[in-house]
Amino acid sequence: MLVNGKQMKSLWRDGTEIKMIDQRILPQRIEIFTARDENEIAYAIKEMVVRGAPAIGVAAAYGIAIAEDKDYAVNLLSKTRPTAHDLFYAITYMKDAIEHGKDALESADEYMNAIIEKCRKIGENGKKLIKNGYKILTHCNAGALATIDYGTALAPIRMAKDKEIFVWVDETRPRLQGLLTSWELYHEGISHAVIADNAAGYFMEKGEVDMVIVGADRIALNYDVANKIGTYEKAVVAKENEIPFYVAAPLNTFDKDIENGNQIKIEERSMEEVTKIYNFKTGVRNPAFDITPAKYITGIITEEGIIKP
Ligand code: MRU
Repeated sequence: MLVNGKQMKSLWRDGTEIKMIDQRILPQRIEIFTARDENEIAYAIKEMVVRGAPAIGVAAAYGIAIAEDKDYAVNLLSKTRPTAHDLFYAITYMKDAIEHGKDALESADEYMNAIIEKCRKIGENGKKLIKNGYKILTHCNAGALATIDYGTALAPIRMAKDKEIFVWVDETRPRLQGLLTSWELYHEGISHAVIADNAAGYFMEKGEVDMVIVGADRIALNYDVANKIGTYEKAVVAKENEIPFYVAAPLNTFDKDIENGNQIKIEERSMEEVTKIYNFKTGVRNPAFDITPAKYITGIITEEGIIKP
């Protein structure tokens, strides 16, 4: 991704130290968080220093790679966040690599490079859907920050930047990942506007949205998609307004053990994420993801092509 005119990844390895852009502090300023062991990686995932399904997976792979006690690291990291399938896919990948006597650090590097390449291909496949003049709505941040480079939902948008395009960015309460998307688009020089989550339907109904592209945290075998809370609502309103609704995700987001969205565990996060703006004290629920039934999805843009549910 471009940051101040230079190529940068959201996470990288420096010897046995894992460096990452601290996503809690963006877009105000760029600060680098350094993890030196699996406990610091687990903290980074749990506290959302690093976030987004593919990036969480890469962080976990490195957490296992730099750990002295691999079993402890596997156990610790698998309890950090429940919904993103990448986390568990990466842990299994690293367990297999280590069992086969492969170098752990090299395996984690390979894992990261493979994720970046999948995202690049998602961009190539998805950009064909974007026509000149398109206004595209996205939810949450499924950009390079969430995937190390390119993004999933943002990869086709990045690669279509030679066309005249405009991006509507849902703010994405309560963690405001939309501001991360806006930060990425600003640095790429792509025209966009952040809108309150409640405003998406207004712009769809006014004919101001030509397509929706979102990422995914886990996809069931029937193509139901778990993604950031609010995705479901956008999909329903898009269908009502006959706007194509695309999910962009690598094939490893499919969970072969999950038949449908009801079986996906939805993370519930702390009430402070919701209450801290006005510091009110009352009953709060804070589910971090929701399920979009397959019937609302026009296509899933993957590294191998576009799948029609
Ligand atoms: O809670 P987060 O910020 O980790 O949630 C991220 C999302 O929901 C993304 O849209 C999803 O992981 C796809 S990222 C490429």
